[in-house]
Amino acid sequence: MELSPRLMAIAKEVKEGEIVADIGTDHGYLPIYLLKHGFSPKVYASDINKGPLQSCVENARVYGVADRVVIKQGPGTAPIKGIDIDLVIIAGMGGQLIIEILEESKVLLDRGIPFLVQPMQQQRELRKYLYNNNYWIEKDALVMEGEKVYEFLRIRHTGVSNLKTPHEMKSDLPLEKQFELGFFLKDQPKHLRDKFLKIKLIQKEKILNETEGKSGPKVRAAREKALEKKKILEEALKWL
Ligand SMILES: C[S@@+](CC[C@H](N)C(=O)[O-])C[C@H]1O[C@@H](n2cnc3c(N)ncnc32)[C@H](O)[C@@H]1O
Repeated sequence: MELSPRLMAIAKEVKEGEIVADIGTDHGYLPIYLLKHGFSPKVYASDINKGPLQSCVENARVYGVADRVVIKQGPGTAPIKGIDIDLVIIAGMGGQLIIEILEESKVLLDRGIPFLVQPMQQQRELRKYLYNNNYWIEKDALVMEGEKVYEFLRIRHTGVSNLKTPHEMKSDLPLEKQFELGFFLKDQPKHLRDKFLKIKLIQKEKILNETEGKSGPKVRAAREKALEKKKILEEALKWL
């Protein structure tokens, strides 16, 4: 079974022998891949909804790993509380939902378990939350899939943030821009970060074109936000 580049980048974060929990597993492709390729001896595949778990069970059976996927149903990390896990993965969800799941995961986080989070939207809000709540950011990286660039972070809740420790700070971008563009953007391969910034720039230009000449408070707010972000992106393209 082939994984998409986005899921493959996440799979590569798993160290051999680690027991993994995939929260919001849906089709179960990630757990199946980790088991099939010997990364993990056992994977917990969890989802809030029954339908996705049924397709996960079916896929695990087809790929011959059904005996090593432990299916759990419930919200966030509730189904894996008290279980020994080496890495928790939350991928393909919005940043706000990831924040809510982290808020409910204090027991696991306080045990020092690393989380791999891959937000599809609200990346800025998620980074701001991680910064304000003193997370240690082990990785903040990009992965390209077709014409899209996805962001993923490996985090721990240590109570001390490397982003607030002067000798650990890696970025000279102002904090608000790091929330938007990533804590370690400069460390990313040039082609990837350029593509990432350009895609975002095109999105903002699209909003500005579509709202041009229109009025109303919502349109004005959307235009102001798009203009502000466009400026940040143009500055970042010059800075990198
Ligand atoms: C878009 S899919 C992502 C699938 C997979 N993780 C990926 O990255 O390709 C999101 C999945 O999260 C599940 N989900 C949504 N809210 C959840 C929650 N609070 N707790 C657990 N799973 C949730 C949905 O049922 C759905 O299967």
